[in-house]
Amino acid sequence: MMISVLQSKIITFIFFFFLIRSLDAQPTHLYNYCYESGNYTANSLYKSNLDSLLSVLRSQSYGIGFYSYASGSSSTTTVYGNYLCRGDVSSSTCETCITRASRNVLIACAVQKEAIIWYEECFLKYSNRQILSIFDYGRFITQTMSTYTMTYSSYFINTVEYRMDLLIREAYSSSSYFAEETHHVSYLGEVYDLHGLVQCTPDLDQYDCYRCLKWAYNETEACCYGKSFALVYTTRCILTYKASFLAPPPPPPPPPPPFRASSENSGPDSDDSFSFKFKGEN
Ligand SMILES: *[C@@H]1O[C@H](CO)[C@@H](O)[C@H](O)[C@H]1NC(C)=O
Ligand SMILES: *[C@@H]1O[C@H](CO)[C@@H](O)[C@H](O)[C@H]1NC(C)=O
Repeated sequence: MMISVLQSKIITFIFFFFLIRSLDAQPTHLYNYCYESGNYTANSLYKSNLDSLLSVLRSQSYGIGFYSYASGSSSTTTVYGNYLCRGDVSSSTCETCITRASRNVLIACAVQKEAIIWYEECFLKYSNRQILSIFDYGRFITQTMSTYTMTYSSYFINTVEYRMDLLIREAYSSSSYFAEETHHVSYLGEVYDLHGLVQCTPDLDQYDCYRCLKWAYNETEACCYGKSFALVYTTRCILTYKASFLAPPPPPPPPPPPFRASSENSGPDSDDSFSFKFKGEN
């Protein structure tokens, strides 16, 4: 069998898999999306190019955090794709994640020419159009959780804004396009570690990395304002933060007088309540 490869502009980008944390935990599936830009048929050349592409992506995913490939020899049957593994996962977690992503995306999007699948640890996208180095405000997902209600929420919100801004600057000006930190916060007896992580795909230019992360941060304000956990993954960059309490939160200040302007969200946030959204256009 011959696989012809056109424009296989390949970026090999080795991330520092420095934190062998998460003990090679199973990847956590978040969402998949099948674009409506066209379908292929079962025995087509497009399908065999897609299979080749996915197999190449799988084969690179041990040790390479981002990989881009194009499989095909004509403009109508070439498939373009890439994946990104989160900069804090091990080589084997990356490989497991991409292996799973490449199989499950075909189950979820069995005929569509263009699709994306997000896991917490990685994402994988393919398309019938060239997607390398192209930034657009496309599809994205957000996730939040109300495990904790921050007692001093305005202090928390200001801290998050400040720390995430620093991280975004650090990421887009670094060669890895990745930054994370754990920042210790102790405020009026409320003690927690604020872990932040941001990352762009390395094919973007610096300005696009910057605006992708700024956009992702902006979206946290809609999904996750004041929440102890936020996650925004786009097709080009990822951003997440989480506060973990080290000491039990102090008793809340006296409640405000009862007031109900609307019946929406009138129930209290239950522990571990979890919400998830998918948004965007194109
Ligand atoms: C592509 O396939 C999906 C799933 O079978 C179908 O819902 C959709 O209408 C098809 N789109 C086109 C353009 O044929
Ligand atoms: C973020 O939101 C602010 C205020 O809503 C807006 O001015 C800015 O253009 C947004 N930035 C991005 C990158 O979306």
